[in-house]
Amino acid sequence: MSMVAVILAAGLGTRMKSRLPKVLHPILGDPSLLWVLRSLPPRVSRALVVVHHGKDRVQAALAGWEAGGLLPCPVQAVDQGEPLGTGHALQACIPSLDGCGAERVLILSGDVPLLPSGRVEALLDRPAALLAMELENPGSYGRVLLGAAGTLQGIVEARDLPSGLPEQRLVNGGAYHLPWEGLRQALGRLKAANAQGEYYLTDAVTDLAASLPVEVLRGDASELAGMNSRRDQAALEALAAERINMAWMDEGVSFLDPGSARIGPRVSLASDVTVEAGVRVEGASAISAGCVLGQGCVLRDCRIGGDTVLRPYSVLEGAEIGEGCVVGPFARLREGTRMAPGSHVGNFVETKQARLGPGVKANHLSYLGDCEVGEGTNVGAGVITCNYDGFRKHRTVIGKGVFIGSDSQLVAPVTLGDGAIVGAGTTVTEDVPADALALARAPLTLKDGAAGRLRARLRSRMG
Ligand code: UD1
Ligand code: MG
Repeated sequence: MSMVAVILAAGLGTRMKSRLPKVLHPILGDPSLLWVLRSLPPRVSRALVVVHHGKDRVQAALAGWEAGGLLPCPVQAVDQGEPLGTGHALQACIPSLDGCGAERVLILSGDVPLLPSGRVEALLDRPAALLAMELENPGSYGRVLLGAAGTLQGIVEARDLPSGLPEQRLVNGGAYHLPWEGLRQALGRLKAANAQGEYYLTDAVTDLAASLPVEVLRGDASELAGMNSRRDQAALEALAAERINMAWMDEGVSFLDPGSARIGPRVSLASDVTVEAGVRVEGASAISAGCVLGQGCVLRDCRIGGDTVLRPYSVLEGAEIGEGCVVGPFARLREGTRMAPGSHVGNFVETKQARLGPGVKANHLSYLGDCEVGEGTNVGAGVITCNYDGFRKHRTVIGKGVFIGSDSQLVAPVTLGDGAIVGAGTTVTEDVPADALALARAPLTLKDGAAGRLRARLRSRMG
């Protein structure tokens, strides 16, 4: 049996007031649409994503996720053309759904990101069903009306509610599992005779419910919340963070201030990790046991070895850090940084495409770009790899046990052999052999008593 998912993602998202398509707005660093795609259970064999507004950006995002192995099944974009409603979005999928022999269709909204896979599974276990939730303030959600048997009688959009209808707290979550043939026929009968002049999917579902029982499954309001405005987005981010942080606490992770920590849905934290206040970890990051993520640290796509300490306010992107390292405070490790076990990078150090060997120390105020640094080497304060000549990047290769004095510049391409010493303030413009001393010194002038004479002269000029 062919199970195809349709994810609605073509709308403008007017209420977001954004240049970015609504479904690409992030929750904990992952776009809403990626959350929805990743919730698809294994029995879904393919997914159609209905796009239109900002379709180039949505399609580029889909291609990136596919290349990154983030999608659970093959995904194809379908251009709806000018979006005329959620029912029109399904009409645009008719050729594709017929073409792939769909028997049943799972329909999800790209702007409902927190629906867990398990809840989608429950929907798929029923032959025809939708997810609904009870809300104190039903707001703009469609109202779900139940028939005598407790199955769906119909859905009325908020803007089309007849006046005088008693307030109705059961609302439509926008997730459906339906037989394709019946839905297809109902879509053929759709009219746009409503307050918004749109072709509503909800009208097609109401129509279908007249000929077969459609079950109404209750979901949790926190799982079915939609992202229609910036307020919704902030509320979803807080909800998702709370859900994720609680789950990690149950796995043995300490949060000093859980309300302020943001851990993304693809992040893994081992037990005895400590997350201090204001930490944000996104992407496919993995943090090993015993690590400390200091206050205000921001990480994306990083792997951190066991017992490593990230001191406060360090920013790491695409970095792989070994066991027992110390980073920061205020360090910036960019893509391609690899730190071997026991290495240290201190305050105001920036690294990019830098491989630091075991026990390397670069503790203060350095830029290390496009370089290798051998085991046990000490990089003094203010050392800069001059890796860019205005046209191309060049490599710096530093051997083991090298000592590089403070405020030295290494003009790449350049190699420093094992055991070399570079004197403080040296600009290294050629290779330094192993165990050699590289020293560049302008002669120092010393004049006894001249400081006093200089001061007197400067003071007299002040009048
Ligand atoms: C929709 C439902 C409402 C439900 C709510 C749940 C309809 C008519 N209403 O309302 O009953 O309570 O979701 O969140 O279905 N989209 C398209 N093409 C279009 C229009 C919309 O792809 O022509 C996409 C949007 O990008 C969005 C999704 O469909 O991802 C839902 O559209 P939206 O405008 O957010 O509908 P709601 O007002 O939330
Ligand atoms: Mg919506």
